[in-house]
Amino acid sequence: MKLAFYLGAFIYIMGCGETASALNTRKKNEPDSVYLFSYGTNGLKFAWSRDKKEWTSIGNGYSYVKSDYGQWGSQKRMIAPYLIQGRNKRWECVWQLNDETLQFAHAGSKDLVSWGPQSYPYFKKGKNVLRPIITYLKATDSYLIIYTDVSNKYFSTSTKDFKSYTPAVTAAASAYKNLSKNLMVAGVQTQGQLHRVPWSTVNGLTKSFEINQYKGQQNAESSKDDEHRFGNLKDLTASLILQPENAKPISTMLTGVFFEDINYAADGGLYAELVQNRDFEYLPRDKSFRDAKWNSQHSWTIKGEGTVFSIDSVKPIHPNTPHYAILHVKVPGAALCNSGFDGISVKKGQAYDFSAFIKSLDGIGGQMEVRLVSAGSGILAAAKVEIPLKEWTAVKANLVAGADANDITLELLPLTSGVTALDLVSLFPQQTFNGRKNGLRADLAQAIADIQPKFVRFPGGCVAHGDGIANMYNWKESIGPLASRKGDRNIWGYHQSKGLGYFEYFQFCEDIGAAPVPIIAAGVPCQNSGTGGGGQQGGIPMTEMGTYIQDIIDLVEYANGEVTTVWGRKRAEAGHPKPFNLKYIGIGNEDQITEVFRERFTLIYNALRQAHPEITIIGTAGPFFEGTDYEEGWKIGSALNVPILDEHYYQSPGWFINNQDYYDRYDRNKSKVYLGEYAASMPGGNKTNWETSLAEALYLTTLERNGDVVAMASYAPLLAKEGHTQWNPDLMYFNNSEVKFTTGYYIQKLYGQNAGDKYIPASLVVSDQQENVRKRLAYSVVTDRKTGDMIVKIVNLLPVNVNTTLDLAGFKTEGTKLLKTTLSAKPGDKEVKEVIKEMVMTAKPDVALPAYSFTLLRFKTAK
Ligand code: AHR
Repeated sequence: MKLAFYLGAFIYIMGCGETASALNTRKKNEPDSVYLFSYGTNGLKFAWSRDKKEWTSIGNGYSYVKSDYGQWGSQKRMIAPYLIQGRNKRWECVWQLNDETLQFAHAGSKDLVSWGPQSYPYFKKGKNVLRPIITYLKATDSYLIIYTDVSNKYFSTSTKDFKSYTPAVTAAASAYKNLSKNLMVAGVQTQGQLHRVPWSTVNGLTKSFEINQYKGQQNAESSKDDEHRFGNLKDLTASLILQPENAKPISTMLTGVFFEDINYAADGGLYAELVQNRDFEYLPRDKSFRDAKWNSQHSWTIKGEGTVFSIDSVKPIHPNTPHYAILHVKVPGAALCNSGFDGISVKKGQAYDFSAFIKSLDGIGGQMEVRLVSAGSGILAAAKVEIPLKEWTAVKANLVAGADANDITLELLPLTSGVTALDLVSLFPQQTFNGRKNGLRADLAQAIADIQPKFVRFPGGCVAHGDGIANMYNWKESIGPLASRKGDRNIWGYHQSKGLGYFEYFQFCEDIGAAPVPIIAAGVPCQNSGTGGGGQQGGIPMTEMGTYIQDIIDLVEYANGEVTTVWGRKRAEAGHPKPFNLKYIGIGNEDQITEVFRERFTLIYNALRQAHPEITIIGTAGPFFEGTDYEEGWKIGSALNVPILDEHYYQSPGWFINNQDYYDRYDRNKSKVYLGEYAASMPGGNKTNWETSLAEALYLTTLERNGDVVAMASYAPLLAKEGHTQWNPDLMYFNNSEVKFTTGYYIQKLYGQNAGDKYIPASLVVSDQQENVRKRLAYSVVTDRKTGDMIVKIVNLLPVNVNTTLDLAGFKTEGTKLLKTTLSAKPGDKEVKEVIKEMVMTAKPDVALPAYSFTLLRFKTAK
């Protein structure tokens, strides 16, 4: 890791400003100062020149800062960036965001390499904000920003700190002094600003680009080059020597799961409801009006003649679910059919609970046949229910499937003519996980339980902070009777019924012995929001933050309060008088760390800590392992002493291999870490295979080693339904009848089932000491106080076998049973072979580590 040290030293020098940097990096024949040209669309770029004639692009058009405003993809635009040097020579940049909004963007930097948080202030003047320019006014030590709009009017505002701005006022056209120049850079005519800078500034920009290039090469390392990289490498020998004298306690919460309603993970997935759009609440806005078939009738059709199916919302069961179906049967014989989520799967002999709210609208009533009809095998179950005459009434029936089938339609067939209203039409397998009513799909829930997660994070991910303020997940709307739960547009482009709501999440956690970790929005929506103003700068108005914070405090009462409390009573009414033992709450999800975020997070954090000091609050440090949000998130976390910070990163195997010391360097006196979202995927295709799983296994050894600072970790996302996947890779894929495990699932399971509470340092002495070899061998040794077991995990990401001897440094194990689990495959494989062997322990056991393998040893020890 020598190079890492040099890079670190370089970054440190950069941080100290120009003088130190200049001294260290300027060669004798280099100029003191040069011209710098800042320009760019969709990213701020630079070029330099000695004479303003010949321009050299720095980093070949590399973007040193990009706009983070708006939705993923095309909304994140940086138009006409305008850069100046202001107070204390700090760089300040403003840019136009689009042609619509009354906002511009600002970001500042001391060296043009590291950039501070972006902000997007709102103004009330003009039709839009076009081509803002900025000037530093030395006399008043303030900044003047002038913009124009579509009608060629000019407006100005000023600020001292880029946090508060004076209201925009009309300005004279002559005040708009745009000093931009048109220059040819790398053969392209471009517009930007000219600056005179010390050579060290250019040097810093170049070095930063080179570091990025270097990191890019590391990230791109993959086993496909192993033949070349390790062409002559023969089988190796190694010795793993334990150093128990330096043992340290580690987190007992390290391995958990991340659950988000993404990829149909909840409705159509873990939530066992088989009827799609059971409450007729699918709305065109769920899919941003892009799918003409996505409406209240989605998944429902009429089979047969003589019946009209319509939707109404007069006198619904509950105002939160206003829509319901009306069947006007003129001639009996037709059925209202629901096709489920890609069909309904049933198993022969298993019972299914049908229920619905029904009322006759014309006082005729009669009966309705309910049946499960297979496209291939005909009617597999049928029952009759009465059509109640007056008010909405819950009707129920039990259906037992006569055969296995995956192509079932639920059919509702009124047997007499008349007008009938229907809502909350539901079909649940009786065999849910743990037999819970309104429960979870047994096979999927069991697959999660088998990981033995120490915690479950829910409901996201981005679902937690939502697409715009109105879409933030509101836990109160996810509890209580199903008809009162307020479904919503899902940020991933479908509908969330909230049938799987906070009560069910808490219950599932209890059922599998995992700690619940709800994540609540920090008063700001997802920075990639496409609605409600674009980006999280549209946080909850400060005047409404009190109510919002009270909702979070109420959540603790709902989970843990006495049954005599308002919210504790609601939990009891739902069937759980005992508390759910909530200990953690996450505030925020990989948010953009702006001033809007800081204000709201701080308010929530302080209020929650005061009201519930017993709750461990988890803050957030942005969506990457570095960069502005990461830095700013950590600044806030450290300033407020937030106990745990949530970090997210999705990377290539090369990144994980080359960043094994990521947490070794973390300050043990600052916040602990929750690595809340991580996954390895092959560059270019977002695919997983055995190589990505080994990279995760390797990285997990480093998390165990750093289990004194990394408190929790969860792979993300957990579930994906085939044909409905918005995000790849995922840990498990499924359809209506099968769960398909990725190779990474087996890694998560082995880590979850073999966690420890004490880390035993060790060193691995390998017969070949090349760095490329060493960094592909990773190991961790933990002990588990409860069982007295020692667990050794070793990852071999090399194309050769490594015959390893364990030196147990005094631990007495002879004669005890050694359980050895080996997973091995070719790097590109999608499946992995597991071999479990029981052996008798010796003083120095020999362990063969096959090429590309993960080996886990478990045995009893006594010292
Ligand atoms: O895990 C999928 C998504 O990745 C999460 O919703 C979000 O937090 C992250 O960007």
